[in-house]
Amino acid sequence: MINSRSFRFLTGIRSFSSSSSVMSSPRHLLSISDLSPAELERVVDRAGEYRELIKSKGLSSTAENLPLLGHTVALMFSKRSTRTRVSSEVAVNYLGGHPMFLGKDDIQLGVNESLYDTGRVISSMTSCMVARVGPHSDIAGLAAASSVPVINALCDSYHPLQAIADMLTIKIAFKSVKGLKFAWVGDANNVLNDSTHACAKLGINVSIATPEMYPVDEAHFNKVKASAAISGSTVEISHDPKTAVRDADVIVTDTWVSMGQESEKQARLAQFKGFKVTSEMASEASDEWKFMHCLPRKQEEVSDEVFYSDRSLVFDEAENRLYAMLAALEAFVAKKGVIM
Ligand code: CP
Ligand code: NVA
Repeated sequence: MINSRSFRFLTGIRSFSSSSSVMSSPRHLLSISDLSPAELERVVDRAGEYRELIKSKGLSSTAENLPLLGHTVALMFSKRSTRTRVSSEVAVNYLGGHPMFLGKDDIQLGVNESLYDTGRVISSMTSCMVARVGPHSDIAGLAAASSVPVINALCDSYHPLQAIADMLTIKIAFKSVKGLKFAWVGDANNVLNDSTHACAKLGINVSIATPEMYPVDEAHFNKVKASAAISGSTVEISHDPKTAVRDADVIVTDTWVSMGQESEKQARLAQFKGFKVTSEMASEASDEWKFMHCLPRKQEEVSDEVFYSDRSLVFDEAENRLYAMLAALEAFVAKKGVIM
């Protein structure tokens, strides 16, 4: 059965060696693994430069700074979004381009057309595809079919734009990031995978507690540990929130029920008992600990007392999604993946 509500392959990916239109190999941003530590640092710094610029001069860009003038960016979203959609549309517009939003009910994809054919066609008319999908294989499939850069706007495994914004948020809050402790308490999900990989690449120590039922992806965390070994940071993985947050500078969580897992909600709420972030849980964190959450937030994973406290960076983190998107579009579309 074809699920019309998700962007899935209807047919396998065909070899495109015979293709005339998919000749170049654009550089894609599918996960934080696609950036070297130096490139990640540069993209985060560039996001910070956009932040300064916009905060001092406002959101309207100048005519001489429109690298996407005349370019259309397709925004293909198979799942709901507030921050990613708005930051993408505003960022493309700021850079002089045209954002074309294509929701799951707007195009033939997943109903009458395969991901491969759709990717070939849309990339032949646009300068970039920003896509929010289900399985990682969908975004990888889109990239394989595309003649233009593909930017992952969230898949079930990764969320690189969130990770870039998170690193900017930590940098602004703490100035120097190397040696900080980033503690994740919650689900082993897409946001965890890329945010912790970004931490490991930038020299931030990572400590994770997930319920036993939801262990981290071992293959991915082998990569995270390899990045940590290069930067000199550490990665600790457990099922004990109290231990994970001890001496933490940043305590982070996310929803316990990600998009696509709605049918598991009741079971998950029971299995995550003891994982709600509260000030009591954080009693042994660093004196200056801060709280982060990518949003949208549900009541169960963090107390109001923490979420709306002075320790909470969540609304800066959300705003920083705009600057992260500006930096990503500049790097992958305007500069074609040359990040210096
Ligand atoms: N954090 C985030 O990606 O939010 P949206 O789902 O609203 O885009
Ligand atoms: N883990 C969440 C993140 C939402 C931005 C989800 O995938 O639904």
